[in-house]
Amino acid sequence: PVEKLPEGIDICFYEGHWYRSVFIHGIIKFQQHFKAQDTDLILATFPKSGTTWLKALAFTIANRNNYLVSESPLLITNPHSLIHFLEFDIYGKNSILKLEDLPSPRVLATHMPYSALPTSIKNSNCRIVYLCRNPLDVFISFRHFAAKLSNTPFDPSLIEESFDMFCRGVSTYGPFWDHVLEYWKASQERPDKVLFLKYEDMKEDPISHFKVLAKFMGLPFSVEEESQGVIEEALKLCSFNNLKDSEVNKNEKNRRGHPNSMFFRKGEVGDWVNYLTPSMLERMNKLMEEKFAGSGLNFKFS
Ligand code: A3P
Repeated sequence: PVEKLPEGIDICFYEGHWYRSVFIHGIIKFQQHFKAQDTDLILATFPKSGTTWLKALAFTIANRNNYLVSESPLLITNPHSLIHFLEFDIYGKNSILKLEDLPSPRVLATHMPYSALPTSIKNSNCRIVYLCRNPLDVFISFRHFAAKLSNTPFDPSLIEESFDMFCRGVSTYGPFWDHVLEYWKASQERPDKVLFLKYEDMKEDPISHFKVLAKFMGLPFSVEEESQGVIEEALKLCSFNNLKDSEVNKNEKNRRGHPNSMFFRKGEVGDWVNYLTPSMLERMNKLMEEKFAGSGLNFKFS
């Protein structure tokens, strides 16, 4: 089946999940052709969960011996042009990027659900970092993003219909709960393979989570680095305000012709309160109770 999001974006249902129709070609190619290497690191997210931030953080960890912070490519390049999405940038239509050209060890990204990943990712020793975010902020963040994608002003009158669709699982890469739960379960079963992070926790305590991320990547910070303030400096480099205000993210466009600024809006936890009604919150709370029952998974909303 095919549906149209209220912002006019076409999505289609393929093997249990909803994808943007324009990307289905790259999604299938990625599933069929990607061969993971044991040294690969895959950054996986549901859209609008903080992918841009995670890419900046992982890039900084992986390249900290190659560049001083004052010379970081992040100062002049959008994080999405440094770490590429497999299903759009590598396998998507008209892609000119080739896996062979990427530096090793490879750091790659995807929005694909765990169950839809190519088997070589699951069967190899490559590692996955999954970053998730509470569904209410994801939902609102996506509405703003979708308005920009479809070149229309954000329209609050579309919220009711799109919220109903989101709750029914009809959203890009949805159902949301399946996405989060699949990675959550994988992280419980194989903690050495899948690191599960939450946007809200990272905002609350960025230093600890940044250290956890570096350790998981096999590149822990040394005592010397810690005492030299390397962690704080890196976090400042990747911070929302720093990235949002840089020339490249304020005024330049990406290869697909979208302004880089569309990846930086508020960068806060709890902005949904400005848009959603108490009955929407109640519906979401009930859904989460039902979907996440017994899993041990929960979210902070404010
Ligand atoms: P908001 O729309 O709520 O502001 P993604 O990167 O997965 O597309 O997610 C985008 C969301 O992450 C947006 O949320 C955006 O503002 C926020 N974001 C982008 N860069 C960030 C950063 N460095 N730190 C925290 N949040 C960031």
